[in-house]
Amino acid sequence: MPIYPDRFIEELRLRADIVDVVSSYVPLTRAGANYKALCPFHREKTPSFIVSPEKQIFHCFGCGKGGNVFGFVMEYEKVSFPEAVELLARKYNMSLPKRERHSTGAGQGISLRNLYAINSFAANFYHKNLFSKQGRAALEYLRSRGLDIEVIKRFKLGYARNEWDEFCSLARDRKASDKLLLESGLVLASEKGGVHDRFRNRIMFPVFDNQSRVVGFGGRSLGEEQPKYLNTPDTRIFKKSNLLYGLNLARHHTDKGYFFLVEGYMDVIGLNRCGIGNVVACLGTVFGEGHIRLLSRYVRQLVLVFDPDRAGINAAVRAIRLLLPTPLSVQVLFLPGGMDPDEYVGKYGRDSFLSLEQIDGFEFLMETISKKYDMSDLKQKSLFFKELFELINDIENSIIQTGYLSAIARFVGLKDYELAREFASFRKKASIYKDNKRRFSENVVSVVGNLRPKGPEAELIKLAVLYPEYRNEVKNLLVPTDFEDTDLWELWQVILDVDFDIGRLQARVQNAKAAIKPEILSWFNEILFSEVADPEEMIYTSSKVLLDKRDAKKIKVLKEIIRNRSEKGEDTSELLRELDALLKKRRDRIG
Ligand code: UTP
Ligand code: MN
Repeated sequence: MPIYPDRFIEELRLRADIVDVVSSYVPLTRAGANYKALCPFHREKTPSFIVSPEKQIFHCFGCGKGGNVFGFVMEYEKVSFPEAVELLARKYNMSLPKRERHSTGAGQGISLRNLYAINSFAANFYHKNLFSKQGRAALEYLRSRGLDIEVIKRFKLGYARNEWDEFCSLARDRKASDKLLLESGLVLASEKGGVHDRFRNRIMFPVFDNQSRVVGFGGRSLGEEQPKYLNTPDTRIFKKSNLLYGLNLARHHTDKGYFFLVEGYMDVIGLNRCGIGNVVACLGTVFGEGHIRLLSRYVRQLVLVFDPDRAGINAAVRAIRLLLPTPLSVQVLFLPGGMDPDEYVGKYGRDSFLSLEQIDGFEFLMETISKKYDMSDLKQKSLFFKELFELINDIENSIIQTGYLSAIARFVGLKDYELAREFASFRKKASIYKDNKRRFSENVVSVVGNLRPKGPEAELIKLAVLYPEYRNEVKNLLVPTDFEDTDLWELWQVILDVDFDIGRLQARVQNAKAAIKPEILSWFNEILFSEVADPEEMIYTSSKVLLDKRDAKKIKVLKEIIRNRSEKGEDTSELLRELDALLKKRRDRIG
């Protein structure tokens, strides 16, 4: 993703006053030096959402969300950082500078703007065609499938006539170059060296990105022509692994907290036609990481709607496995009688569809896997465990992982701790295999609940952030090995780099897309609003703890070396002296 120059970001940030921006979305009331409101990001009855005009940041003490003006827009509008920049630039009448782009040979010379423009032009063109004389059959077909004019317009459906060069000659008249036409995927190079239209005699489904720009098309053949659906190939603005059909509409239907994921274009339209707007589909590609990333911006839950046949079950299992380690929860819904969602709602209506039974994704996964084994046989049952354990072993979030463990325990009628024992022994074996020491030593069942940074290093950073006068001292004190969490060290580096302006710091972190975990960013936002009673006392205590931690580590290493050497019969007297000195130092410090 291209990035705007820091200087521009900074100027925009200064112009887009956070109080001004936030209050255009939520009513703010004054509270001392700050403003407060009911948090727009979670449900609450008393306001815990604070905006600071002085620091130009916001923070919610209820849900932990916080950030600068860009962060707010990103969260509220569910857009990426560059998109938030664009939106604010428009609002504050600043013209966007050229993005610094890493141009790839292929796309050289063609600007993204032109790619969007040609797609939008094509969508209008095809849409108009649908209502022309030659489009009558196509329009009839859509109507026969229950679509009225309003729905056809909402999705801007169109028709590509059965001609070879109707679109490309029109586009050329409008000064579109062959290079642009080819890169857009709307036309193909013909053998004679010219170009011709890709889509002929097809119903056209424009695909919109999450900013409602047309980025490509799906074309459904009207006759027997194969393939049934022909899509724009991937281009710089049309990447199927990062797009979902219907998302431009579904993003306004997030109140239920979930989206239906269906298989086809017509299913998205069919459900929309019956008043179900929270629905999206992949574009003839398999469901993957990109889709998950996109979806997590809008909802916490997905309902997979699949055929109950073998292919459908496999697809569901695949998707659930992918979703297991993510914060998105999954339900599955199988439609009876081999119908697709479009047919189902057409026949039985919206309410019937919404009342269909939804199965928890993980339950479904366990059910499916258990069918492969004879669960009354002890050995087979342990294979069943193994298969599930392998699926959840790599989940980093221990709360999620523990949740699955409980579900497995319930499923087989064991107590949580009994199953935890099974899992621990599985891990032991797995870690011997992989020599994965970190996992081995981890306490598997305990819920690590608190992912927030802690320890002297976190305390010292807090101090340096709140009291710039201590900054140098802290800087000289901290070294990378003091950090248990490398993300916290990354954050510290950004803090040091930015010459102390909180708002600028946040913009930097976002713009640089530094891979800093949300827990750490949220902690950072929180400390900005916190206070330290006695900074002197704090730096004294924290640095003492820090030094002690270092010594403890050194002692541990020394002891190990000494043990190794003496086992080999080597001389360790020098090392023992060193160890003694360290132990004494520690005692003195504590004493
Ligand atoms: P379906 O054949 O179920 O399509 O394919 P549909 O949307 O229900 O269409 P109707 O009801 O037959 O008119 C599901 C999806 O798979 C992709 C398309 O995204 C389609 O919506 N697909 C299917 C292709 O990309 N190419 C094909 O040839 C077929
Ligand atoms: Mn269908």
